[in-house]
Amino acid sequence: PPSPPSNITSVKKLSESPNLNSIPSNYAYYTNYPTETNIASNSDDSIPTIDLSLLTSDNPDLRSKAIQDLDKACQDWGFFMVMVVNHGIPETLMKAMLDVTNEFFNLPEEEKPEFQPKNVVDPIRYGTSFNTAKEKIFCWRDFLKVFVHPQFHCPDKPESLRELLPEYCERTRDVVRKLVKGISESLGLEESEMGEALDLGSTLQIFIANLYPRCPNPDVALGMPPHSDHGLFTLLIENGVGGLQIQHKGRWVNVNALPNSILVNTGDHLEIFSNGKYKSVMHRAVVNNKKTRISIAMANGPSPDTVVSPASQLVQTKGCVASYVPMKYKDYLLSQQSNQLNGKSILKQVQ
Ligand code: SIN
Ligand code: FE2
Repeated sequence: PPSPPSNITSVKKLSESPNLNSIPSNYAYYTNYPTETNIASNSDDSIPTIDLSLLTSDNPDLRSKAIQDLDKACQDWGFFMVMVVNHGIPETLMKAMLDVTNEFFNLPEEEKPEFQPKNVVDPIRYGTSFNTAKEKIFCWRDFLKVFVHPQFHCPDKPESLRELLPEYCERTRDVVRKLVKGISESLGLEESEMGEALDLGSTLQIFIANLYPRCPNPDVALGMPPHSDHGLFTLLIENGVGGLQIQHKGRWVNVNALPNSILVNTGDHLEIFSNGKYKSVMHRAVVNNKKTRISIAMANGPSPDTVVSPASQLVQTKGCVASYVPMKYKDYLLSQQSNQLNGKSILKQVQ
């Protein structure tokens, strides 16, 4: 893939330019915002919550109720919040991860890893927008993406990132393992079957840190355009500043994480594996003119070399056909990352 133009400034630097009263026109995503479908309602309290401790409970009734709740959340919303006390990730670690992410973005520009990655799937990529080589309109966002599993990579600065990141990755993978076991059962498979089919021992996990600086024209800019994630489940935390919106019943809904909770959204490979039972959720990130937002998304997918098709058990029954074209996960990812971020354009349904 061609390398991005070299002269693109980070949004952080741009936002710090003196007297920036309005954004440059190549950051104006919407020309007539908000339209009817762009108005987000606040319905935070109806966003489903999942208690992870119930999902792993020894009490079969509690466990089966939790699996039903997970099934419903994935079908109705493609999105849920994993609650405060029971997800197993210490509050101090989540806070420290957000702090070290802030430290990373505050490093002098020249000390950040190569601004221009040679390849869209380099294991460590610092950049701005999504894919500046392909975009005409840029997102109000800087990012750091690091492949952390099956092989662990880490930028060498800030120093404490190397200390914190392995534990954060391990703990988030543990949350995903529990979700996958529950989903495996809610699809009617054995608890371990989904993990085996997707070779999740070698799960591809990507750490994505996002910086959305304060924006003088939040009504026309976008942090991230509408898209679905490529993997199975993405786990997201944020610095108390909201901006994530999910599409629900044709409307954009604001989602603000309750303190110490983790936001979870379903990705394209859950849609493919479940043969469409669980659709990946469309989401976007909006920006604001008051506070800088930091979010950390952990993307969790199949192993890179797995060719993913709908679970064979789901399409063996008479009258059931596979609705998605099988594709190697690595190729799917490459295809998404080499293009503009655009809805569900990479997901291929059988015609
Ligand atoms: C993402 O969609 O990957 C990031 C969304 C967010 O920062 O809330
Ligand atoms: Fe996303």
